[in-house]
Amino acid sequence: MILFKKAGALQIWLDKQREKSLKLGFVPTMGALHNGHISLINASKKVNHITVCSIFVNPTQFNNAADFDKYPITIKQDILQLEKAGCDVLFLPSVEEIYPNGLTIEKKYDLGNLEKILEGAFRPGHYQGVCMVVDRLLNIVMPDNLYLGQKDFQQCMVITKLIELIGLKEKVAITICSTLREKDGLAMSSRNMRLNENERRNAPAIFQTLSFIKSNVDKISPSFLRKQAVDMLEEVGFKVDYVEIADSATLKTIEDWTDSKKTIALIAAYDNEIRLIDNMFLFD
Ligand code: PAF
Repeated sequence: MILFKKAGALQIWLDKQREKSLKLGFVPTMGALHNGHISLINASKKVNHITVCSIFVNPTQFNNAADFDKYPITIKQDILQLEKAGCDVLFLPSVEEIYPNGLTIEKKYDLGNLEKILEGAFRPGHYQGVCMVVDRLLNIVMPDNLYLGQKDFQQCMVITKLIELIGLKEKVAITICSTLREKDGLAMSSRNMRLNENERRNAPAIFQTLSFIKSNVDKISPSFLRKQAVDMLEEVGFKVDYVEIADSATLKTIEDWTDSKKTIALIAAYDNEIRLIDNMFLFD
């Protein structure tokens, strides 16, 4: 695996690969890699000649300073995992490399409703930060294919919108890969590393609640099911930001099951200090 810290050097190398008509797949991450990330690398390797992974803990997308300070950094293990997976290139830039003009917001991305609901509402500014960094990363890497995890479902929608906004829709195709889970159902996430033993024991309650919602589709109204789901999570000590049952194309709340094929349930809740998110399509 080749490691680049400078965008310029990476771009020169990537241009040479493009001249040979090689297809580029890109997996942007914030490190603390787990098998979920590796599944994105594997998906990229299947259809691209070259797979590029980036590791950059992006300061502009943390609406909570403590969350940024405590974000796990495991760079040595990350490199080993990427090498083992056969990743071709790691881009590991500094903050100055990505934000040469500092962290001030230079551009506002019009994300419409996506920024006002769910993660957008609970994490103000978060998606502007995601767009800032992904815009820069895409302009450096210019991949043919971009790989994202379904666990961050709303982020997948935001980045799809971003790609339209910055005129890369014809150039960059997005592949959304299914969420990988631990044996007990907990969605793999870098933040899981921060859970203590008790919190880890409680954490699968989110998956269990999503499964409960799924098994009650058509039996209980969406609004009552949302309420029951909140009760289930609160009973085991979670502080719930939201339980939503929504149309997966718009993330608008649904009130009946008539157009159920596209329905998704989404949860964000605190297991003590650690905020976990997960989602599940309600129909297979
Ligand atoms: O999902 C993440 O890890 C980050 O939000 C991303 C897409 C790498 C942007 O920093």
